Amino acid sequence: IRDNSQAVADYVSDYVVARIKAFNPSAERPFVLGLPTGSSPLEVYRSLVKKYRAGDISFKHVVTFNMDEYVGLPRDHPESYHSFMWTNLFQHIDIPPTQVHLLDGNADNLDEECRRYEEKIKDMGGIELFLGGIGPDGHIAFNEPGSSLQSRTRVKTLAYDTILANSRFFDNDITKVPKLALTVGVGTVMDAREVVIIITGAHKALALAKCIEEGVNHMWTVSAIQIHPFSMIVCDEDATLEL
Ligand code: GLP
Repeated sequence: IRDNSQAVADYVSDYVVARIKAFNPSAERPFVLGLPTGSSPLEVYRSLVKKYRAGDISFKHVVTFNMDEYVGLPRDHPESYHSFMWTNLFQHIDIPPTQVHLLDGNADNLDEECRRYEEKIKDMGGIELFLGGIGPDGHIAFNEPGSSLQSRTRVKTLAYDTILANSRFFDNDITKVPKLALTVGVGTVMDAREVVIIITGAHKALALAKCIEEGVNHMWTVSAIQIHPFSMIVCDEDATLEL
């Protein structure tokens, strides 16, 4: 628990940098990092860019897999997760573009795209560290309430609450928010060797309480990390209001 969201971001970015350095990645053995979008990781990304510019870290031997992407939103739409990641992180660091993986929400065959994504993760030796955020309804990636805790990468219909929450990025107009997304599954996240979840703000307080003070359940999908052998939640004071 940290005082505020900036302190959370500082902690998480220090942590990620320390993990990458301790791993000492090379071309033969890259560090495989799972990444989220959203406002929660934004400060983390800013801080990682700062550290890169200061010469504290290189991403040359880091491979990334993003958690999710909207279906049908053009790749260059400002709210696509592709745009988000390039604008806020990738274009500012030395990661080779071929080492960046994002789901293609415009693929002709979405099921096939999801299957290929899982395979790519496996081919890379699995994810070393999966960084995540959560929705106010406790979803991780786009694993909405009711998702199987064994789920893999797939097409998911967004819950009304998520469409409403994300409409702030679409002129507050819910009709502009895509209704489908591609998302890694809860099982995909749980397969990572380490999971770090960022939870900030009073609007996430109920979700944090449900996630750690109640049992593992598919209605608050992030609660699955209770049974992950190596996981951590980094939250601010505001998010602890319901604990
Ligand atoms: C979306 C993403 C999630 C993210 C959530 C919270 O639903 N699919 O991966 O955790 O938003 O976003 P924010 O951090 O902006 O609250």
